[in-house]
Amino acid sequence: MNLMDGKLVAETIYARLQGEIAALKTKDIHPKLVIILVGDDHASLSYIRSKRKAAEKTGVISELITYKPEEIDTESLINKIHELNADPTVNGILVQVPLPKHVRAPEVMKAIDPKKDVDGFTAYNLGKMFLSAEFEDLVPCTPLGVIRLLEYYKIPILGKEAVMVGASNLVGKPMAVMLLNRKATVTVCNSKTPDLAAQTKKADILVVAVGKAGLITGEMVKKGAVVIDVGINRNADGKLVGDVDFQDVSLKASYITPVPGGCGLMTVACLMENVYNATLIQKSLEPGKK
Ligand SMILES: NC(=O)c1ccc[n+]([C@@H]2O[C@H](COP(=O)([O-])OP(=O)(O)OC[C@H]3O[C@@H](n4cnc5c(N)ncnc54)[C@H](OP(=O)(O)O)[C@@H]3O)[C@@H](O)[C@H]2O)c1
Repeated sequence: MNLMDGKLVAETIYARLQGEIAALKTKDIHPKLVIILVGDDHASLSYIRSKRKAAEKTGVISELITYKPEEIDTESLINKIHELNADPTVNGILVQVPLPKHVRAPEVMKAIDPKKDVDGFTAYNLGKMFLSAEFEDLVPCTPLGVIRLLEYYKIPILGKEAVMVGASNLVGKPMAVMLLNRKATVTVCNSKTPDLAAQTKKADILVVAVGKAGLITGEMVKKGAVVIDVGINRNADGKLVGDVDFQDVSLKASYITPVPGGCGLMTVACLMENVYNATLIQKSLEPGKK
């Protein structure tokens, strides 16, 4: 079994971006990310800290705008986004989810200029990726991170059986499309899939994004499979674990990601890749694919 080291691969992305962003700065282009947070959700604050740390590391300017839930509604949030859309010094806009219930999240997300949509959540960017890998400019960061991991470890996708467990708009569906774009034969499972093991056992590449600790056990995995665990859960001891029973599955897998230390770190690195690519798109320069 080989461990797919998210920290190591994320560092290679940071090293590349540091050089690319330094080169942009010599042309007086200074990539800037604005993060909007409503409320003080503990997990959101921790994610934002890592995103801002990654920005600092790569030379991206980051700004955090925070609102108390009671002082913001859908319309005022949309107005703020329109203001940021029109600001030429802002290259990336990220609205941290979850938003409070009284804010209509889909309308807020829709307001983000697709060229500044560094989370890749707008219908325009999600729709574009349906066309082919060539059109994957700003795609959701977590699936992009998985692709970067597979590329780094030189794991072929073309012609392989890929099984995606989980079908959310944020992870499962875009991941399935990205694997399909690279010519895998893709199966997508959801909560109503009758016999999950029958599907997962087929996988050469198994990606799991559900949010249930221990969902995937060794007997559900084919010998030699590549297993990517996107899930983040807290076990009874308060420790972070994925959806895959790591001990059990690592006896079967050829490659496996740890949790923590796998996909989470890649997601943040790929956000920085998206900020860089968004900047290039806005300046009508060619976005770097790698
Ligand atoms: N590492 C990272 O950077 C990162 C980033 C994002 C998310 N995550 C983690 O990834 C996990 C999934 O996130 P998400 O946003 O995609 O969650 P989500 O929106 O709750 O979606 C979960 C998906 O899993 C499916 N599902 C539920 N039970 C299942 C089962 N028994 N068998 C097969 N599929 C099942 C659901 O099916 P239905 O469609 O039928 O409801 C749904 O499609 C969470 O643990 C989250 O914390 C990690």
